[in-house]
Amino acid sequence: EKGGYASFMLKEIADQPKAVADTLLGRIGASGALHLDEVRIPPHELREVDKVVVVACGTAFHAGMIAKYAIEHITRLPCETELASEFRYRDPILDGRTLVVAISQSGETMDTLMALRHAREQGARVLAICNTNGSTIPRESDAVLYTHAGPEVAVASTKAFLTQLVACYLVALYLGQVRGTKWGDEIRTVVRQLSDIPRQVEAVLGTMEPVRKLARTLADRDTVLFVGRHVGYPVALEGALKLKELAYMHAEGFAAGELKHGPIALVDEGLPVVVIVPSPRGRSVLHDKIVSNIQEIRARGARTVVIAEDGDEAVVPYADHLVRIPAVPTLLQPLVATVPLQVFACELATARGNEVDQPRNLAKSVTVE
Ligand code: BG6
Repeated sequence: EKGGYASFMLKEIADQPKAVADTLLGRIGASGALHLDEVRIPPHELREVDKVVVVACGTAFHAGMIAKYAIEHITRLPCETELASEFRYRDPILDGRTLVVAISQSGETMDTLMALRHAREQGARVLAICNTNGSTIPRESDAVLYTHAGPEVAVASTKAFLTQLVACYLVALYLGQVRGTKWGDEIRTVVRQLSDIPRQVEAVLGTMEPVRKLARTLADRDTVLFVGRHVGYPVALEGALKLKELAYMHAEGFAAGELKHGPIALVDEGLPVVVIVPSPRGRSVLHDKIVSNIQEIRARGARTVVIAEDGDEAVVPYADHLVRIPAVPTLLQPLVATVPLQVFACELATARGNEVDQPRNLAKSVTVE
């Protein structure tokens, strides 16, 4: 049940620290190495993999886009992510050395199922990332890594998304471990950083009142744009999708570097633009570029909503609204940066009088192509 919350969506947003912790539980050994024996693809086959292809729909597709960054960075294997509904129609190049990762909360999405059937017919190995025990997608896959988000009732996905991300990082790390592309210490470092995420998500949830307030002031707007770079780009797409699903608003996500190639023409006086700012530490080149992007859109009159990590002072002069998130490594930032966007969309939808658990025209799992 809703456990005292006004909607399942609010409850599921609040459940995220536990969902993430449960998805990590039992998968990390005392030494910090990963124990994913449940992934029943033998290590020698994983060592032979020469390409990874991720297929999914909707929110799960956004998790898959982030998986590409993690898998390529950690394993140095080429990885592509494709919408499941597009995948088989372009006759993709697949063989016994391709690992296909199919991500689905419900395990019943027909587009994703048809994509994995096609992949298996071509001889590829399929690993499902799924939240529903015994559903069709894991049954038809070679292996499954379950997310432990618990039942997700609200149509718009929140806690399942965060756990899909965790599962994607685990797959990337496990491939790195089995294939020897990453040393034990590096894997242990990321694993330790992942173990801190539940606490950090909890911290974000505790600071959401200004985000809710801001959302209410934007309830009469027509359009909101979201921009990000690197793993912040799929986060921007997810923020926009949430707003479409829940608030029935025109919302779009863009890669920040692409703005100047077209979308910046949309920016005019007062247009709300949400910017997901990468950490200034580590790959600071990403950070510097996005600071210029914020300046550009603000110079054209945008009302900027800046999501930036604690201590990032460089963005302060350009932020009409500043949302702070904890400092985490760039690759893991989607786990904390998505949370304010979920709260924002939920509150804005409520302010517009929408029913957030059952948005119009949508179904929790879509079993037609
Ligand atoms: C959609 C749901 O139709 O299916 C989305 O409304 C979801 O919320 C998408 O992201 C994919 O679903 P699943 O179950 O395959 O993750």
